[in-house]
Amino acid sequence: MKRIGILTAGGDTPALNATIYGAVTRANQLGIEVFGLIKGFNCLFNPRVPHVHLNPLYQCIPELDPAMGGTLIGSSRDYVDPNDTANLDLIAQRLRQLRIDGLICIGGDGTLNGLQPIAERIPAVLAPKTIDNDLGLNYASEPDEWTRIASPDHPGGYRNGRMNSRCSFDLDHIVNYVTPGYATAVFVSASGVERIRTTAESHRRIAIIEVMGRHSGYIALGSSYGRPDIVLVPETPLDVERLVDRVKQIYDLQKNVVIVCGEGIVDEQGRELGAAKSSTDPAGNLALTGASEALRSRLIELIGDTYFRNYRRGRTAAEAIFTRKIGHTQRGGRPLLFDRFHAAELGAKTVDLLKDGHNNALSILQYSIDRGFHVEGYDANRLRDRWGLIHARQMHPDLYDYSLMKPSKLGADYLKPIFTGAIGQDDMEHTRTTLFAPGNLSQPYHSINTDINKRIRLLS
Ligand code: F6P
Repeated sequence: MKRIGILTAGGDTPALNATIYGAVTRANQLGIEVFGLIKGFNCLFNPRVPHVHLNPLYQCIPELDPAMGGTLIGSSRDYVDPNDTANLDLIAQRLRQLRIDGLICIGGDGTLNGLQPIAERIPAVLAPKTIDNDLGLNYASEPDEWTRIASPDHPGGYRNGRMNSRCSFDLDHIVNYVTPGYATAVFVSASGVERIRTTAESHRRIAIIEVMGRHSGYIALGSSYGRPDIVLVPETPLDVERLVDRVKQIYDLQKNVVIVCGEGIVDEQGRELGAAKSSTDPAGNLALTGASEALRSRLIELIGDTYFRNYRRGRTAAEAIFTRKIGHTQRGGRPLLFDRFHAAELGAKTVDLLKDGHNNALSILQYSIDRGFHVEGYDANRLRDRWGLIHARQMHPDLYDYSLMKPSKLGADYLKPIFTGAIGQDDMEHTRTTLFAPGNLSQPYHSINTDINKRIRLLS
């Protein structure tokens, strides 16, 4: 292995540069060149294959800063169609022309699905990333539980369904315990919850805070560190009557309520509350845009104006109940120590996987009480269902307490190893020394894209 290509695909996370840094550092030790491919799979569709040499003379370029969020080589949601053999052959040809012997894709479940047809042409491995924490398995046999149910309305005439599990859940059996990006996203969302709380308290209001995560409730679960009163996760259908009772109970007591809801929460019929527009992104993911607003409307209707008027807390329910999305701040900015450190380890492991002759594999972050966090290699096929598809991992229901609408005891046990030491001293010190630096007021922002642009090379 003399030269490796690396790309970042899908929605970004704060830990991508750390993963790239880990891979490049390992490649330097092994005397392997690393070419960064610009803007994810998009680069491979471009005959000129824009790329950057990330380690000339086996030294990281200075722009590669593991503590910087985003990705210096850019990302996109372009994916490879496994049936488009003509394009796939072109991609393989372009990579050969660049003399790339192996490919590292940093991505989530969509990227791993996209990587498979490429792995039939050139060795390719994945380093995991996603703030949603939905790449992995609750237990090794989970992919076998997927089934196809005939459904003429769905593309292909079927929809994916799940059989009843034959497996009991145990934290020790999770495959890929946690994914880089998740800890920082939770740091941002939990801090947001803390901040919204005090203003909801002052103004006697009910706050609904929407967090990301698509169909997985991990970010909502982790946001519990900000001490909301109620957490709603996509894995448990909304029971609106119970919710209203609980909201009133808490409001009666403390004159404010903070609710965290995952963007993918579903109603009693299993329909996404946030999919009002029913549109998808280029990778085919449903755009979930309105969960908190939909929830607010239902609470306004069911609690009613009189309730608040009787308490002399405003004229209408609409005044008292407000929503906030944590939004893309969850995906941006400096990664926490936990994410930086493990992302770099996972990146390094992918280089080892390629060097040791693995293909269609990924590095994973495992946890056990005895060994703590450690990285391993995993065959990507073990994540695929019988038809070859990788599904996003949902949070196991045992991590959530349905009656309390909060993390269960097991949920707390899941979170603690990740978060107890997740923030490094330097993370806080960095904010202290940089945010209010006087120069921020006079100097324009200098984008990494400007620097990288100077280094981009083209195939022809
Ligand atoms: O998958 C990561 C994620 O941040 C999801 O949590 C969210 O639904 C989605 O990406 C948002 O995507 P975009 O930035 O393309 O709107």
